[in-house]
Amino acid sequence: MTKFEHHPAVLCATLAALALSAGTLQGCRGDRSTEPPRQFFPDLDDAPKWEPQGESNFFADGRMMRQPVAGTVPFGRQAFVPSEDKAWSTSWSEKREDLLKADPVFYAGKDDKGAWIAKVPVKFSQQDLLRGQERYNISCASCHGYDGAGQGTVGSQWSYPLPNFHDEKYRDVSQDTAKDGYLYHIARNGVWSPDGAQNKMPGYAHALTAEDTWRIVAYIRVLQATRSATLSDVPEAQREKVRAAIEAAASAAPAGATTPPTTPPTTPTTGGAP
Ligand code: HEC
Repeated sequence: MTKFEHHPAVLCATLAALALSAGTLQGCRGDRSTEPPRQFFPDLDDAPKWEPQGESNFFADGRMMRQPVAGTVPFGRQAFVPSEDKAWSTSWSEKREDLLKADPVFYAGKDDKGAWIAKVPVKFSQQDLLRGQERYNISCASCHGYDGAGQGTVGSQWSYPLPNFHDEKYRDVSQDTAKDGYLYHIARNGVWSPDGAQNKMPGYAHALTAEDTWRIVAYIRVLQATRSATLSDVPEAQREKVRAAIEAAASAAPAGATTPPTTPPTTPTTGGAP
């Protein structure tokens, strides 16, 4: 027992101090004030620290953030080994590949001399083409039209005519503009004026994986084939079926309508405009 607890004057002083400090604390949090905020531990609030993107005279380049060591390659955080029964682990490892972007043919559409590659560098199944169709219809058709002729809902309102993918320019592979690598590049990076100042078409790399971009390129070839292919291009076993489908479509269509493409059967085919 100390005298302290029993001394009324000390008790009063303590209570007064408590009341005062409660009054002082009041209004610290949440209240609006034109006064600068009270700081009880200024050394913690104002601890010297380095902010990302900040300046520092400690390093010769004046930056706080350090550059990665030369030759560093981006790598996913998850080191999963893909297993066949786990779609999610496979998708993670695919993303890692995507970050690495080590293959210029696949990720830039260019060969080792920097020229556009003529053909999609992967083998595609019909599933891939259908996926390409879906992605094309989402990302490209509004301007370029469901049939690729440049008359999409937005494209037909453009201040100048949009390119027609059925033109020789995009079909004759002796021209750069008809190379698969070039179409891939445009889909991802858009079209820019020669001086790089004006963006004529937005790039879609933010919305498309590299794989899906190639699928779109392959689907543009499908669209082209709908206007240029003849029955002799169809495997013999399916010719009769295709011939019957074309005849049925021609007799069902009103006079003057263009023959709808036979692949794939569910696509709207005449322009993008509803
Ligand atoms: C917002 C409208 C719009 C969308 C969406 C769009 N484009 Fe374009 N695209 C344009 C315009 C405009 C041009 C013509 C640019 C120019 O040369 O002035 C163009 C040109 C092109 C060309 C021709 C480039 C050349 O050098 O001749 C290709 C190929 C192309 N687009 C592919 C695509 C693909 C693939 C997609 C979908 C991933 C797509 N575009 C989505 C507006 C669009």
